[in-house]
Amino acid sequence: MKITDLLHLFRLSFQRAEGGEMVFFAPGRINLIGEHTDYNGGLVMPLAVHMGTYIVAAPNTESNFHLIASNFNETYKHPLGANTQLGNQGWQKYPMGLIDWFVRHFGWPGNGWDILVYGDLPLSAGLSSSASVEMATAVMLNEIYHTSLPMIELVKATKESENHFVGVSCGILDMFASGMGRESHCLVLDCNTLDFDPVPFNIQPYTLWVLNTNVKRGLAGSEYNERVAECNEALSQLSGVLPKPSLCSYSPDEFEQFGKAISRDVCYKRAKHAIYENQRVKDAAEALVAADLMELGRLMYQSHDSLRDDYEVSCDELDFLVDFCRQSSVVAGARMTGAGFGGCAIALVHREAEKEFIPSLAKAYFDKFGFEASFYTARAGNGASRLL
Ligand code: GLA
Repeated sequence: MKITDLLHLFRLSFQRAEGGEMVFFAPGRINLIGEHTDYNGGLVMPLAVHMGTYIVAAPNTESNFHLIASNFNETYKHPLGANTQLGNQGWQKYPMGLIDWFVRHFGWPGNGWDILVYGDLPLSAGLSSSASVEMATAVMLNEIYHTSLPMIELVKATKESENHFVGVSCGILDMFASGMGRESHCLVLDCNTLDFDPVPFNIQPYTLWVLNTNVKRGLAGSEYNERVAECNEALSQLSGVLPKPSLCSYSPDEFEQFGKAISRDVCYKRAKHAIYENQRVKDAAEALVAADLMELGRLMYQSHDSLRDDYEVSCDELDFLVDFCRQSSVVAGARMTGAGFGGCAIALVHREAEKEFIPSLAKAYFDKFGFEASFYTARAGNGASRLL
């Protein structure tokens, strides 16, 4: 949305005159490959997208954080000094988690703030709409508090908030991409050390398409935390025979040699996915640098199969979209992206064929499931920032 339109919406929503507004943006992300490796100390390969969350903020005289979620037409008022846990529900838990973090570190601000939150990402679709709300809030609070924290500290604060305030045991993938994304690049990030390499996202003659199943599942659902627990169980048994700090520090060869130490079959499969997926990220980064898009695509399909069979986080709708792509020579590769359990797949579709391919996929999907999927193209954009 244009800044002038956002300012107009802000003034209208809060019934206030012009003046003192700041505007912030934080993007959503697409993870090219490296799924469910972040909390296993592994590699991921995300890019920030051009869709995300905008925040407009200006001081008020009411001594509260007055939040409006413009997409839902909902309001939440939090008096300065009140227990932040009162805001730990609904959509407001995402901004309130960061407010809680700033209050714990720096106390309450001297005055209240009117805050409008507007997003143009599809919600619960695996494109990190929640991390983008959190990162936009973090960047805003950094200004309100005049704290000048570096972006990486805001990324860590956001992860802490998601883990301890919202209650999802997620890794750092989403907030890192939203905070640190770089125009025209994807990031090869080591979630153990937080070292990262921006790699030019040059996928000519293909376009990155997002294929949204429109099947929504909450990430806070028990499935995600269950996977984390299963990986931890696998690690504790593996490290009994070959001590290492995280699942992704084992090579596929070491896993083949010592994997039988993992007693429960389900934990064995989770570990297998994480360890092989980590290797796929290394291979995918090399393929992208070498402009070998067929190899990148092959790794994407392998990643999808592993998420479907070993990690068990895909669903019929995602599998259908990916299998349709697999049968077409105009697609280099496709896979589900994000946590799974619904949400989006991504595909590298040849530019010259997309005008025919996407409508044929859309029709096949509708014929099969009786509801529509949505399709968007995506480019790599910059991370969170103040726009005004
Ligand atoms: C969600 C989590 C991330 C990551 C992905 C799966 O997006 O928030 O931390 O675990 O799922 O790769």
